[in-house]
Amino acid sequence: MARRRQIYEGKAKILFEGPEPGTIVQYFKDDATAFNAQKKGIITGKGVLNNRISEYLMTRLGEIGIPTHFIRRLNMREQLVREVEIIPLEVVVRNVAAGSLATRLGIAEGTRLPRSIIEYYYKNDALQDPLVSEEHITAFGWAATHDLDDMVQLALRVNDFLTGLMLGVGIALVDFKLEFGRLYENDEMRIVLADEISPDNCRLWDSRTGEKMDKDRFRRDLGKVEEGYQEVARRLGILPEA
Ligand code: C5P
Repeated sequence: MARRRQIYEGKAKILFEGPEPGTIVQYFKDDATAFNAQKKGIITGKGVLNNRISEYLMTRLGEIGIPTHFIRRLNMREQLVREVEIIPLEVVVRNVAAGSLATRLGIAEGTRLPRSIIEYYYKNDALQDPLVSEEHITAFGWAATHDLDDMVQLALRVNDFLTGLMLGVGIALVDFKLEFGRLYENDEMRIVLADEISPDNCRLWDSRTGEKMDKDRFRRDLGKVEEGYQEVARRLGILPEA
């Protein structure tokens, strides 16, 4: 089979032209980066696990009516998705203080937040994805107010659903990052969930012991990185056969 045309290579994924117009193939790599690519490494088997985990979570979200770009998983490392126009924002939802919020505001990591907090970051590697406000987003035209409203509503629904789903398997959903895209279909535009949802972009702690099962194991040199991702897949009941 002729190799598909590569459209884009990111830090953790490669995007190829899909088999039909309006489709894209997402290939999941084992490469891991942190701190704006200052730290680089390989987590063996990560791509396979993230492909599975993201397939599972996007499918469950689709079932409750959250529009996503996901179509189907193709093989161990690839999934077919709809081509969307990516909105240049990272939408972070936080339930418990951790990471940059804990550092920026001096709140002890692990402190439950009074309510879920949404933050926006402008997707720009050269600027190291700066924190931005709704004012910046609408003034600079990255998203219109009604698009941002849609994203917030969807992000909160994703948070409610995933919090429950994870808690059911003994995992606390501390925070996570979402990306959205514009999907054009029949002369209409819809905002849909894009990218991936995996331990690369969620903080997942064992709800009993607090043990980290996400990319912080790599960021903070905690060891057993792949094992953390595997444990998430195992608890979700989707661990791929060795
Ligand atoms: O680093 P910070 O605390 O702001 O991260 C919040 C959440 O967003 C974490 O779950 C992290 O994995 C995710 N994130 C991400 N991609 C980034 C920045 C953060 O997936 N570029």
